[in-house]
Amino acid sequence: MWVFGYGSLIWKVDFPYEEKKIGFIRGFSRRFWQGSTDHRGVPGKPGRVVTLVDDPEGCVWGVAYKLPTGREQEVKRYLDYREKGGYQVITVTFHPRPPLSPPPNQTLLYIGSQDNPDYLGPAPLEVIANQIASCTGPSGQNSEYLFQLADAVRTILPEDSDEQLFHLETLVRERIKTGSNTHTRTD
Ligand code: SIN
Repeated sequence: MWVFGYGSLIWKVDFPYEEKKIGFIRGFSRRFWQGSTDHRGVPGKPGRVVTLVDDPEGCVWGVAYKLPTGREQEVKRYLDYREKGGYQVITVTFHPRPPLSPPPNQTLLYIGSQDNPDYLGPAPLEVIANQIASCTGPSGQNSEYLFQLADAVRTILPEDSDEQLFHLETLVRERIKTGSNTHTRTD
């Protein structure tokens, strides 16, 4: 059993795995459109975390993990719990990074689709940046989630040209630097 991570599963690896591969999936784009009331926000003041949205031209890079043989269900149960805030599991075709290019394989993936109760959907990047700069939840600041993801994509997935991710990083860093993150409107 393989699981593909494109968000916190790239940089917060608090589960055992047997093997990992870097690669990509087609047909999606990564967006900060999923609300978080259990990790990076709270009920009534949700943070924003990533989900994938359909995009026929899109390509998302990430890390695929092979769950430990014989412990797949146990580790999957842990991941289901960790990703319980609106994410459901789908199966996608994963393409390992060239040039090694072993054949594509099927992986599981956690996705927050439009019909989950925490889904927030699109908003202007400025508004998303205000929200990320000012939200905190049980797992920490929403800005930390964004910065960790941007750092990880830059360093381990340089093929991923996620312009929105890096633009948001710049906007949120500006807000924190000027101290305008503590009382910004998010609507
Ligand atoms: C993932 O990382 O693959 C799912 C979204 C998240 O937990 O940030």
